[in-house]
Amino acid sequence: MKKVGLVGWRGMVGSVLMQRMQEEKDFDLIEPVFFTTSQAGKAAPEFGGKTGGTLKDAHNLDELAAMDVIISCQGGDYTNDVFRRLRASGWNGYWIDAASTLRMEDDTVIILDPVNDGLIRNAVANGVKNFAGGNCTNSILLMGVGGLFRENLVEWVSSMTYQAASGAGANNMRELVKGMGVINAAVADDLANPASAILEIDRKVAKAIREDVPTEFFPAPLAGGLIPWIDKQLENGQSKEEWKGQAEVNKILGTEHTIPVDGLCVRIGAMRCHSLALTIKLKKDLPLAEIEALIQSSNPWVKWVPNDRSITEQNLTPAAITGGLEVGVGRVRKLNMGPEYISAFVIGDQLLWGAAEPLRRMLRILLD
Ligand code: HSE
Repeated sequence: MKKVGLVGWRGMVGSVLMQRMQEEKDFDLIEPVFFTTSQAGKAAPEFGGKTGGTLKDAHNLDELAAMDVIISCQGGDYTNDVFRRLRASGWNGYWIDAASTLRMEDDTVIILDPVNDGLIRNAVANGVKNFAGGNCTNSILLMGVGGLFRENLVEWVSSMTYQAASGAGANNMRELVKGMGVINAAVADDLANPASAILEIDRKVAKAIREDVPTEFFPAPLAGGLIPWIDKQLENGQSKEEWKGQAEVNKILGTEHTIPVDGLCVRIGAMRCHSLALTIKLKKDLPLAEIEALIQSSNPWVKWVPNDRSITEQNLTPAAITGGLEVGVGRVRKLNMGPEYISAFVIGDQLLWGAAEPLRRMLRILLD
């Protein structure tokens, strides 16, 4: 059995990964070894009926080098610190990483096997050892409308995102919910009184948002609002999150000619569902039914939502999608701009296809 080192299994993405690995019985197929950055020597956890004995030191290169595969959900700083030193020491195992650090390196493949299984398997056959999960919005975009890319029908995509708090981290999710509570507390008495004036409620809410909603982790109040910037500022005016769209989508697909992907990335007050409002320019005018069929054929996880008001309201929301592997796709119609222009709304759980799921599926590919 392959020895699989797990780093960062206690964090948010790591915890979702452990949950999914248990559900899919991945632990039956591996010898898990649990690493820690702070509690080496303590008892390892038990997942899938297996314990890894004691926790190993995640900075000990000798312990890491004993692994056939390492899966890291520990974050980019850890990868930066450890990965290259481990490779320099001669370790030749497989490194599977949730962080963005290695994604754009030539010797790293971005993994999203329902979309690029062939590219991944080719890379493994050719000796590639480094694999990184993609940016969550890109993975959800491609899970949703991958069928159109597969048929080489996409000329360009404008992707306007609505990204959940989970993409920023566990503390940000807590801050969002705290902020919701602060707002509610500011007007709880007024809400209990049906005769209270709505503009007075609004004034108190605006004041609470400006002055009292916590902003320790987000740069501005997210509860009751939004933040139209995610990640670093680049010189060309894009955010780093926006830059990743074109760079990663094309790398995942292995395109010969770059497909332009661009748009604005916006943080909204959802917990863990990322959504994307897409404008897609197709290379040709296809009947809508054909476009719909291609999208539905993207992969088994597409949850097709017909472009109907009540079906959309019930099925294409964070409330409907959160916590599951289905990627909702709907609002597909032809746009006024011309017969090759279509809209689509894609929504997926940021912690599943957006983070943990591609990692455990990559492990399965290596175990095949
Ligand atoms: N960068 C993403 C976000 C999450 O901030 O929502 C990780 O892919």
